[in-house]
Amino acid sequence: MNEGGGGRKKSSPETLMNTIFDVDNKTIRNLLQRRTIREFKDEPLDDALLARLFEAVNRTASSTGMQQYSMIRVKDEAVRKALADVAGQEYLARAPELVIFIVDLYRNNKIAALKGESVVAGNTMDAFFQGFSDAILAAQTLTTAVEASGLGAVYFGSILNDPGRVIEILKLPTLTFPALGVGFGKINQEPMLKPRMPLSEKLFTDTYEKLEIDTEALARYDAEMETYYDLRDMNRRVDSFSKQVVTRLNTVAKKRQRMLDYIAAQGFVLKPEA
Ligand SMILES: Cc1cc2nc3c(=O)[nH]c(=O)nc-3n(C[C@H](O)[C@H](O)[C@H](O)COP(=O)(O)O)c2cc1C
Repeated sequence: MNEGGGGRKKSSPETLMNTIFDVDNKTIRNLLQRRTIREFKDEPLDDALLARLFEAVNRTASSTGMQQYSMIRVKDEAVRKALADVAGQEYLARAPELVIFIVDLYRNNKIAALKGESVVAGNTMDAFFQGFSDAILAAQTLTTAVEASGLGAVYFGSILNDPGRVIEILKLPTLTFPALGVGFGKINQEPMLKPRMPLSEKLFTDTYEKLEIDTEALARYDAEMETYYDLRDMNRRVDSFSKQVVTRLNTVAKKRQRMLDYIAAQGFVLKPEA
């Protein structure tokens, strides 16, 4: 069409932006609708789909490209049951697919050893954090890919209730550590979207802008949270967010308080000599 055409309909800025950036794409729509799914149909997933999901995970960015994570797909009923016991969440054992993401510096240490090098400086807390973020990002890729495929997913941070036991159950060697579990499968429940704190409370520019709580915004969020029903808890309404915060900050699982001890016991050097 002639650019100078007098009768041409003008595009609104939104339409233009949609055309150029596709702000209303399927990925973002999925992310805006996502919620944790904890009940699944008792049906296996297609092998070709699973293979594709794991290929997508394998493309995840990793710190310095070192890929310091591994995944354990848990199929054995006894292993699943043992992990569910640690988590205190019986639905963990029932997820059609269960993958545990592991911080893994063991593999690269082995590779270095093959080259005749023994790693003396590399297995620090910093490297642990790198491996931990690699593992978490890989888990997030998996859930995003799962959800984009029309399936549902749940994270299991609860496996860290007893890191020592999980290390034993999964036979984790030194320089590895459990990070997060992901259960997934075909959706068999319709949970509500859980309310979120408004972005104004957690999106800042340049510096940490909100040292004080916006009590009005919090009151509105508290009230909104009280309208949310948690399907896990006999379908009852949940507490206000403020109440949840107080409860959560006052109940820390005993073994989780000793997390650094478990990490050190796996051979990570938390405080190298200067
Ligand atoms: C790191 C992490 C660990 C989590 N661990 C568990 C868990 O052990 N069990 C569980 O049922 N949900 C777990 N969740 C899911 C959260 O409870 C859930 O994302 C949160 O309540 C918000 O609900 P929504 O995802 O439905 O929006 C975890 C989420 C994250 C990010």
